[in-house]
Amino acid sequence: MIGPDFLHTTRSAYDSMAVQYAEFVSGQLERDPLDRSMLGVFAELVQDSGAGPVADLGCGPGHVTAHLHALGLTAFGVDVSPEMIGLARQAYPDLRFAEGSMSALDLPDGTLGGILARYSIIHTPPERLPEVFAEFHRVLTPGGHLLLSFQAHDVPSELAEAFDHTVSLAYRWSPDRVTDLLRESGIVEVARLVIAAEQDERRGFPQAHLLARKAADTTRP
Ligand SMILES: C[S@@+](CC[C@H](N)C(=O)[O-])C[C@H]1O[C@@H](n2cnc3c(N)ncnc32)[C@H](O)[C@@H]1O
Repeated sequence: MIGPDFLHTTRSAYDSMAVQYAEFVSGQLERDPLDRSMLGVFAELVQDSGAGPVADLGCGPGHVTAHLHALGLTAFGVDVSPEMIGLARQAYPDLRFAEGSMSALDLPDGTLGGILARYSIIHTPPERLPEVFAEFHRVLTPGGHLLLSFQAHDVPSELAEAFDHTVSLAYRWSPDRVTDLLRESGIVEVARLVIAAEQDERRGFPQAHLLARKAADTTRP
């Protein structure tokens, strides 16, 4: 796969840490009702809308794709790291996983009922985020839902703040600024959950879960 430098760096970093990452997240969802809560709401809204399948973009080892499947969704995973895709296929042979980048998806326009991007925008340089959101808008069906999870910060003037992520350079994002960028891409906020940093000592930052929906009018503002 050809792509910008940050994608190569991200892919190599996760390729080399894939097994450790899979161990790190193993059982995490099962232990954490707050983490599961927005996934449940997201799944219900996508199902109620009767829309198309759900893509878990930056799916890692596929455990959350499998959780969405268990909630009744037709879910598949995409990740830039071939090692992650290999682990996901091994763990969940009945589900579909593909190598790819979330900023250039091999999907037709307007076909997804939902997108989950869980801690996967964190390695995208801030200036590239609008292009990622434009791609989300392109592939979502009108009214389709997006659930975006990321480490949050609360400096109102800053979109992003780099932090020392153990795998690769990463960014914490301002939920308000991310919401603004989404709106500019034609995706509007529905609800948000921000989990206090103190709730998870392994992560150490507030965790934002932003639920949004592609405006029913298919044209971008
Ligand atoms: C922190 S892990 C999150 C994995 C999983 N979503 C979870 O919640 O545990 C970030 C994942 O996103 C993938 N990723 C990062 N940037 C990506 C991009 N632009 N396109 C596709 N995958 C990406 C990485 O390879 C990695 O597997």
